[in-house]
Amino acid sequence: MTARFPRTLSEINALSAQDFEAQFAGVLEHSPRYARVVAQARPFASAEAVAAAFASAFDADSQEEQVALIRAHPDLAGKAALAGDLTPESAHEQASAGLDRLSSDEYAEFHRLNAAYHERFGLPYVVCVREHTKASIFEGARRRLANTPEQERAAALHEIGRIARLRVLDLITEEDA
Ligand code: GUN
Repeated sequence: MTARFPRTLSEINALSAQDFEAQFAGVLEHSPRYARVVAQARPFASAEAVAAAFASAFDADSQEEQVALIRAHPDLAGKAALAGDLTPESAHEQASAGLDRLSSDEYAEFHRLNAAYHERFGLPYVVCVREHTKASIFEGARRRLANTPEQERAAALHEIGRIARLRVLDLITEEDA
């Protein structure tokens, strides 16, 4: 197994399947099996194509598997975050929007929204935090609580595709000149 650090697209296309899986194991939260599927779709012409392959891999899944993927995400500012038990990717994302340094009122608001969300959908509220601010994360949770379960599964999977895209882009550098 090789360590994870940014590599060029040519290097990624040339990795063994095992090393490719190690490189991209963290792209979908607690779901390394998708990297195995994506490895088989090489060679890729761009980093965006790698990201799109992750989205295609979970789009092709059964609803049951998609729900398991959504449930693999920790609550934002939730128990795992408080316990320091997040994946490095999730910790970095949550910190990017300041979710690791909330006021007690903000913690209480996250707690209330996470609970309402679990109650309504039986899922964690997943949003691509790096594309949001605290205010838009709160606003999105309130808005999405009005979704039907089917709309909400689609919204969560859309956000997971956005999260995966940014994680993939972090792992692929420009080609050397
Ligand atoms: N958005 C980006 N990362 C995460 C995460 O780890 N959990 C949730 N719920 N949403 C996210």
